[in-house]
Amino acid sequence: MSEMTTLGCWQALEAHHATHGDMRISQLFDADHERADRMFLSHKGLSLDYSKNRANQETMRLLHVFARARKLESWRSRMVEGEAINTTENRAVLHLALRDREGQLVTNKAVRNEVSSELARMKDFVTKVLRGHWCGQNDRPIRHVVNIGIGGSHLGPLAAYEALAPTCGTGLSVHFVSNMDAHDIDAVLRRVEPDTTLFVIASKSFTTAETMANAKRAREFLTQKLGPDADLRRHFVAISGDAERAAAFGIDPDTLFSMWDWVGGRYSVWSAIGLSLALGIGWQNFERLLDGGHAMDMHFVNEPAERNIPVIMGLLGLWNVNFLGARTQAILPYDQRLDRFIDHLQQLDMESNGKRVNREGALVNYATGPVVWGRAGTNGQHAFYQLIHQGTRLVPADFIAILKPDHDAQDQHRHVLANVLAQTKALMQGRSEGAARALMLENGVAKDRAAWLAPHRSFPGNIPTNTLFLDRLDPFHFGQLLALYEHKVFVQGILWNINSFDQWGVELGKELSTSIYEELGGSGGKRKEDASISHLVSIIRKALTEDE
Ligand code: F6P
Repeated sequence: MSEMTTLGCWQALEAHHATHGDMRISQLFDADHERADRMFLSHKGLSLDYSKNRANQETMRLLHVFARARKLESWRSRMVEGEAINTTENRAVLHLALRDREGQLVTNKAVRNEVSSELARMKDFVTKVLRGHWCGQNDRPIRHVVNIGIGGSHLGPLAAYEALAPTCGTGLSVHFVSNMDAHDIDAVLRRVEPDTTLFVIASKSFTTAETMANAKRAREFLTQKLGPDADLRRHFVAISGDAERAAAFGIDPDTLFSMWDWVGGRYSVWSAIGLSLALGIGWQNFERLLDGGHAMDMHFVNEPAERNIPVIMGLLGLWNVNFLGARTQAILPYDQRLDRFIDHLQQLDMESNGKRVNREGALVNYATGPVVWGRAGTNGQHAFYQLIHQGTRLVPADFIAILKPDHDAQDQHRHVLANVLAQTKALMQGRSEGAARALMLENGVAKDRAAWLAPHRSFPGNIPTNTLFLDRLDPFHFGQLLALYEHKVFVQGILWNINSFDQWGVELGKELSTSIYEELGGSGGKRKEDASISHLVSIIRKALTEDE
């Protein structure tokens, strides 16, 4: 069993929670007129207001003591220096190198050279495609790009493309296909023209079942439409760490881009895995994205913990999970373009910190990563906010707002920002039964009715929120935002003493599905299935054979 909870600094937090756990955020503001200013941090057009958390100055002090005891700063240096901190896979964790274009952080020369040479190749390729110098069959310039990948080879590029294409679009239509369910790829294949389409196969391993199946379907589609003699090298490029497998599929080495084992899938949008994104937003914008990520890296590495945005967010997240008992974390961006960003954060956080043993392999006796979920505001307000306001679970929430929109509907934008502030205020303040009753009486509701209705119309409030502002949703600020959450996840992994960089939990299901797949085909799987699976297999087989 892990010893975390016996540490003095953990117990100090527990003791503090026992005496102050029920502190009211609104009273903290009453007692401290500097709170709003003091608990506000900014860095290059991204700011964090963390004043609406259930934390006073002592809470923050104790959390920082805990971070020091967990040697957060030394772990951060070990990451930057390229130590194999992903111990279960014996790998370094160097995604920061991907955006360190001037070599300000990462000292490993070999890594820096590899990154810059790959960036140069990407730039060259993107330029060729965008200038119409890379043509498909019949010498037609590329119009559609289809990214075939899943998980980290899909969600990051998709989130960034959705966020940035509305303002930075190059004119290419970029589509993202990930699901094993062929309805996904078929929907895209119906929308593209074969001779103007480039398929980008993004797979670090080049073995992922979904990606391989979709890549084959894309190849069949092209062969069928363009004829057996078509030069498919014009229509397929790939990003992978496995050159042999990629070559066996038919990828030309000249258009195979590298992916290294020191970049985790969910941290890879900054690498060549971002090729489809770069094609969709243009090379300069891709570089601005890298610069935004790097700006946040510099902040994370250099700023003292007390003024360090990812550190503060990580610490407060830990306070919410381990001491206030929160089991989830809502992500609520008030910009439609960030809707898919939530999906990316879900993978980033849950695949990284969804761990139940510590670095030494001992079971932890404290909660680790929360369930991360959300929806873009204001859509979420009309769907699930009810539970956040009046349900029985504590749901801390990150509100993300863009100060300057990229449309001219100023009035709608003002409504959006008003909703952000109103929601955080409502979640903080709540409304007591007495206040609810008084309001109803004021509005002419009969006394008995008001008394009866009051519990239904009262809100507990005191729900912790962060408010993040971005000046604009442009590549630089989006890069900062992405990197901010990567570092927050890192901070929490260190504090919880877990390995945030492996993902063994996705393996078992993959393994079992191979055998069940064979069983469904009638050839008998490798293992004997349990009674439930055997029963369900017989139903499915019956349905499938009826169709034949
Ligand atoms: O199944 C999870 C996962 O391993 C992710 O971590 C990864 O991003 C994704 O699958 C795709 O892997 P690959 O890039 O090797 O196809």
